[in-house]
Amino acid sequence: MKRIFIAGTGNVGKKLIDLIVTYRPDLKIVGMENRRGLIQSENLTLKDIQDFMKNPKNYSRNEMTPDYDVYVDLRSATPDGKLEMETYKSQFDQGKDVVTANKSGLSNYWQEIMKSKENSQRDILYEATVAGGLPIFTTIRHSAGYFHITYFRGIVNLTSNFIIKAINSGMTMDDAIREAREMGIAEEKMEDDLSGKDSARKAVILANSLFGKNLRLGEIKYGGFDPEKTNNSMLLVTIDSRGGFSLRSGLEILEQHDPYLSMKRTAMAADFKFEGRAGISLWEDFDGPTETASAVLNDILEI
Ligand SMILES: NC(=O)c1ccc[n+]([C@@H]2O[C@H](COP(=O)([O-])OP(=O)(O)OC[C@H]3O[C@@H](n4cnc5c(N)ncnc54)[C@H](OP(=O)(O)O)[C@@H]3O)[C@@H](O)[C@H]2O)c1
Repeated sequence: MKRIFIAGTGNVGKKLIDLIVTYRPDLKIVGMENRRGLIQSENLTLKDIQDFMKNPKNYSRNEMTPDYDVYVDLRSATPDGKLEMETYKSQFDQGKDVVTANKSGLSNYWQEIMKSKENSQRDILYEATVAGGLPIFTTIRHSAGYFHITYFRGIVNLTSNFIIKAINSGMTMDDAIREAREMGIAEEKMEDDLSGKDSARKAVILANSLFGKNLRLGEIKYGGFDPEKTNNSMLLVTIDSRGGFSLRSGLEILEQHDPYLSMKRTAMAADFKFEGRAGISLWEDFDGPTETASAVLNDILEI
């Protein structure tokens, strides 16, 4: 039986617990924490978990940390990723594997994290860090891992593209933001989404994971949402290694018949080209905490 410790009990953490209870009760949660408290025990019951979610506090500070196999990082991203990097290194040193939806560590300290993982012969999976529940890394790992990827293009940030498409359909920016919040697809604070920082973090993880780079967020230029340039435009990540390496993360003006323009406002998408096989395109109509949590659960089962 796989034993897990969950850090972060927000939108994704709550959905992950629902999915485990519904589909994989064989997984054993032995610890959970958030900013307000910690609960850990060999014998956590569903009621303990529900009580903690309702009223987090330090339930078992004095109990020894139970043994677990996988540390699951569903915490909010820190601005510089140092806390995440130090957490993963410490988990690897203790013999734990890591599954994360939090992009900040991997987009700022990729090389350090991967080196520590290799030295300790542990593993880290991070499907949910890019485009939530759209299975980008899983598809490549399981269906095309040995082919050389030459090109990637994707819609990897939902909030900014939702707002662009809503404005193009006649809404004001304020109404578009309000609707995005009401639908639960935009956080209260959306600076990272609109400035393009969230997409840029994902671009770094894609470049490092799929194209063998060792980039850090601070090394790439990126752009964000511009209310003056919404016509036929979307915030995309494009990485091309044909004839030299290029990475773009920002607003792109698309041709009128580009399929991305006719996708739903809430869509995520990814297109890959390879050397030696046909390309692959993935898309989904909607991505939210359930889709993200389902990618996290898959990683937990796979690691
Ligand atoms: N929402 C999505 O669909 C989605 C998609 C892809 C990736 N992600 C990523 O997944 C992560 C979780 O997203 P979310 O929407 O669930 O966020 P959220 O609702 O804001 O929840 C974040 C959780 O992290 C906890 N936390 C923050 N700092 C912590 C720390 N130092 N130690 C322990 N717990 C800490 C918070 O504690 P409190 O409850 O005490 O505040 C909260 O429970 C984020 O990194 C996000 O970028 C989310």
